[in-house]
Amino acid sequence: MQPDNIYLIGMMGAGKSAVGKSLASLLQRKFVDLDSVIEKEAGLSIEQIFAEKGEDFFRGLENSALTRCAESKGLVVATGGGIVSRPENVERMRSTGGIVYLQAAAHVLVERVSGTTHRPLLKVENWQGRLREILESRRPLYESAADLTVLTDGKTAAQSAMLAKELLEKKYA
Ligand code: S3P
Repeated sequence: MQPDNIYLIGMMGAGKSAVGKSLASLLQRKFVDLDSVIEKEAGLSIEQIFAEKGEDFFRGLENSALTRCAESKGLVVATGGGIVSRPENVERMRSTGGIVYLQAAAHVLVERVSGTTHRPLLKVENWQGRLREILESRRPLYESAADLTVLTDGKTAAQSAMLAKELLEKKYA
């Protein structure tokens, strides 16, 4: 039986939003981008929330947005890269769905996020080093949270979504 919701986790640049949209349409589920939910509810962009209220405040909003999403069914949810930083979030996702980790090598993440400017955690001089540090600290959290893992290196979002669909069908046949 397919899980109630499907949660995509992984680093900034892993492709959660693009793969999530594609996967939702393949599975005929509704797509939800958690960062967009937070922005809409706060009336502020993610950048503004970090700048004006700080990361802890953002994590609180992220936790409440996830809790509300988890009350629905039939969703594909693209989470923010830091969702795994609170064990409570992982528990919430686990108890209400299947967790798909979109994995990518550090150099691939660097390539995908370069040229983007909307990620507050990477607004530092050595953002590539910062991204690698964040990846190293979160890797075990992503791995232990995941029900299944999709390697996204060298794949388009559509290809990763197709692979996720196949793995989900196998796991939840
Ligand atoms: C964050 C990732 C961002 C966003 C926020 C914090 C993180 O989402 O939630 O900037 O802690 O990794 P994306 O993973 O979609 O970039």
